[in-house]
Amino acid sequence: MASRAARSILVLHGPNLNLLGTREPSVYGRTSLPAVNEAVERHAVSRGASAECRQSNYEGQLVDWIQSAAGEGFTAIVINPGALTHYSVALRDAVASVTIPVIEVHLSNIHGREEFRRHSVIAGVAAGQIAGFGPTSYLLGVDAALALPAARAGGPPVRVRRAAPRAGR
Ligand code: DQA
Repeated sequence: MASRAARSILVLHGPNLNLLGTREPSVYGRTSLPAVNEAVERHAVSRGASAECRQSNYEGQLVDWIQSAAGEGFTAIVINPGALTHYSVALRDAVASVTIPVIEVHLSNIHGREEFRRHSVIAGVAAGQIAGFGPTSYLLGVDAALALPAARAGGPPVRVRRAAPRAGR
């Protein structure tokens, strides 16, 4: 296993997020991906942790990174799956298969946008979701990852279980 900080977070960006800063700035802002990554890495270090950021436009590459994250020594994953959020069962299955916590983040508030963006196939198997705070969503994702109990190697996935709805609600 690679040697890393005690809490080491893998931050993944999905398709089209390489274009941050120039892509639909009225929705996603004018901050570039390298600037987001620098802020994320500095934020993690300020919390006594570390973060490594990667971006891919390819579903299979993201699946590979999720599968190998624990073996690479990461203790949590923060992921913005981009458009894959809304339809990638392969990504959902990858998230469900790992024992380290996965936090889903979005720059925009997907719940206030087009109907097709309001559903995430990832959310049900993620530890939680943060959406709508621009690049700060990633920093909050790092904080959420650090607030969760550390995953035990080989232990069950860390998930926040929702209480069953009570009758009459
Ligand atoms: C996004 C929202 C997705 O609907 C979209 O496809 C993206 C970015 C966000 O960060 O707001 O690529 O994940």
